[in-house]
Amino acid sequence: MDKPLVLLHLDTDALPSVFDRVVAVDAGVQHLFSYGGVTPANVVALVHGCIFTRGPKDLHRTAIFVGGSDVDAGEAVLAEVKKHLIPAYGLSVSVMLDSNGANTTAVAAVRAAAKHLDLAATTSLVLGGTGPVGRRVARLLAKHGGRVTIGSRQLDRAEAVARSIRAAYPSAHVEAVAVASSADGPKALDGKHLVVAAGAPGTVLLPKKLRAGATALKVAIDLNGVPPTGIEGVELTDKGTDRDGHTAYGALGVGGTKMKIHKAAVAALFTGNALTFDLDEIDALAETLG
Ligand SMILES: NC(=O)c1ccc[n+]([C@@H]2O[C@H](COP(=O)([O-])OP(=O)(O)OC[C@H]3O[C@@H](n4cnc5c(N)ncnc54)[C@H](OP(=O)(O)O)[C@@H]3O)[C@@H](O)[C@H]2O)c1
Repeated sequence: MDKPLVLLHLDTDALPSVFDRVVAVDAGVQHLFSYGGVTPANVVALVHGCIFTRGPKDLHRTAIFVGGSDVDAGEAVLAEVKKHLIPAYGLSVSVMLDSNGANTTAVAAVRAAAKHLDLAATTSLVLGGTGPVGRRVARLLAKHGGRVTIGSRQLDRAEAVARSIRAAYPSAHVEAVAVASSADGPKALDGKHLVVAAGAPGTVLLPKKLRAGATALKVAIDLNGVPPTGIEGVELTDKGTDRDGHTAYGALGVGGTKMKIHKAAVAALFTGNALTFDLDEIDALAETLG
């Protein structure tokens, strides 16, 4: 008889996320072990608890999910987890990173854009492009071959993100722009087919009057779920909705796809015992979901 599906949920916040716990259950996890306050310094015993209990032939029925609100902290935990797996002896489990929903949200946003645009021929502006979600949106857009501009209130922060994307994808067309004042907006939007706003909750990054002057703009995606919306005139529930001649998506419009991708990725963890689901793998999985 198959052993039950066990997910070890490692959260870098003190209280493990209820959201991630519910999604795990809905993805078919039978036993969910959630730990809060996880750091690289205390994760080793938790990993050993996974890999030294079941034999290699059953380890595909144990998996690890790394979450929490701090994406950098999640990345550090993921790196440490991977150091302590021993795949040469089959002592490994699959691992997914989705701190702050950053990976699944970015993949869902880019898939929304791809419904309307040929990404390889798309020129994009990612506002709030220095945050965890925006960085991933920009990276995916660049990976798919488009020209991407990272917007930030501080040019040097946007330039650092652009450099990191070019380091990952040397052929990527990525640049940075300062969007510190409304006077910067027209230049930042000039020639852009797609704008994605990934700013902090409740912050308006793109006023309606600037969007009205963006003649090349076709698709506007806002990921901020806390009103006021990050792109003025785009509603939370927009999902391919026409807003002033632009195809618009709001946070809830993208959120349905994000949930589908998140659940599918958790379920996919149990298809092997040495898989990693980070941004690129979750993007590839989403391609198969249609
Ligand atoms: N729809 C979904 O399913 C879903 C899932 C997860 C997250 N989200 C949303 O996605 C958005 C991005 O998340 P995140 O964690 O990456 O956000 P974040 O780190 O809080 O903020 C992203 C960027 O917004 C800019 N920003 C911060 N405060 C600002 C202000 N007062 N005015 C203008 N810009 C400001 C900053 O860029 P600069 O300092 O470089 O300008 C920051 O790097 C959030 O609104 C989050 O709630 C949605």
